[in-house]
Amino acid sequence: MDAANVRGVRRLSTLVRHLIVPSPPSSSSSSSTEAPPMASQNPNDLVAPSPAAAFSSVFAHVAQGPEDPILGVTVAYNKDPSPVKVNLGVGAYRTEEGKPLVLNVVRKAEQMLVNDPSRVKEYLPITGLADFNKLSAKLIFGADSPAIQENRVATVQCLSGTGSLRVGGEFLARHYHERTIYIPLPTWGNHPKVFTLAGLSVKTYRYYDPATRGLNFQGLIEDLGAAPSGAIVLLHACAHNPTGVDPTPEQWEQIRQLIRSKGLLPFFDSAYQGFASGSLDADAQSVRIFVADGGELLTAQSYAKNMGLYGERVGALSIVCRSADVAVRVESQLKLVIRPMYSNPPIHGASIVATILKDRETYNEWTIELKAMADRIISMRHQLFDALKARGTPGDWSHIIKQIGMFTFTGLNSQQVAFMTKDFHIYMTSDGRISMAGLSSKTVPHLADAIHAAVTTVN
Ligand SMILES: Cc1ncc(COP(=O)(O)O)c(C=O)c1O
Repeated sequence: MDAANVRGVRRLSTLVRHLIVPSPPSSSSSSSTEAPPMASQNPNDLVAPSPAAAFSSVFAHVAQGPEDPILGVTVAYNKDPSPVKVNLGVGAYRTEEGKPLVLNVVRKAEQMLVNDPSRVKEYLPITGLADFNKLSAKLIFGADSPAIQENRVATVQCLSGTGSLRVGGEFLARHYHERTIYIPLPTWGNHPKVFTLAGLSVKTYRYYDPATRGLNFQGLIEDLGAAPSGAIVLLHACAHNPTGVDPTPEQWEQIRQLIRSKGLLPFFDSAYQGFASGSLDADAQSVRIFVADGGELLTAQSYAKNMGLYGERVGALSIVCRSADVAVRVESQLKLVIRPMYSNPPIHGASIVATILKDRETYNEWTIELKAMADRIISMRHQLFDALKARGTPGDWSHIIKQIGMFTFTGLNSQQVAFMTKDFHIYMTSDGRISMAGLSSKTVPHLADAIHAAVTTVN
């Protein structure tokens, strides 16, 4: 509410008070035996809301919060009446027709769940669905993972990737001796907020090199090398968001050696397993080399993208420990983090995932559909690259086909982005990140025209 409105409401409240509060009886109308009007002695009368209170809120001072920088893009897109508008801000898969996709295998699993009368809607345990947890750990660490075989992994079902990061962050803030977490620069915009609210102190390490639009490997090694021993390091398991830039297997190995030699604690964020390359195993390789060395780590998994279960909020936090007895105690403490936060997780999404993962046939169907999504995204990269080349757009655009996963970090600056939104109705985050999953063969030419115009007219 602005100042003029506040003043208006106050004036109205005063007026109402004058109208409803009985004025003292005049001396001419009152007899000398009448008691003088007194303030009510009934405590209920004192606290009873007057009609005037209805005009002002106890929250009137609350300022309008800013829109989330990522989700706000969709809000702006929805308001735009243009028929040519394109939303490349949202991190969700779209079909060639620009429609959200529910995987066939998900529909099938849901049908199986509906047809099973033995299914009930009781609360899950605090740690979630036991089958789901076991299968999730196997998916990320590999079926033959020694950590799983030795019962050294504590896995809890959480509210998608975000919830898994939040629970992991809070567990670390309560039980780990070093409270600083290093996150890549740049990273997913929610990371610093999630970890700060979990009670950690957030610092950054260099990750992206704007000059090459690739990895600043030297900067990364220097910054992690300078981090205090024991510090937590957030790593994107694959398909780094927002840059689309991942270390090579050789670079991962060097990162692993550095992290282990300095006693840093890796915390993997795996939001895109299978979505980057189309292979669930290839996309988990970074995590698996850390598990293979016997050291400890945390992993937050999300099924939002790879199973298209965005709104079901399905994810898992796994903490790989040195021994089985530590894992048991860690799990007991995770329960104490979760119980007062949301008590226990929802049942439906986790049941879908468990149904798909535990049956060979449905699992295989999923991998085929997952690969098709990854392939369509890769094909969008090639089509956009070719379209810019065909237009002779100034600059080297090879990063579009080198980067991996859902996003391309175009290198367009915020003025160019604003221009593309205004003149071409193309919506994306102001850092120049575009979701390749939101593109289609039909919209590629429009985007290429917009990028060409932005690069040639706006600096
Ligand atoms: C890097 C990264 N981590 C975590 C998430 C969390 O996603 P969700 O909570 O929807 O699983 C996302 C989603 O965009 C992401 O990009």
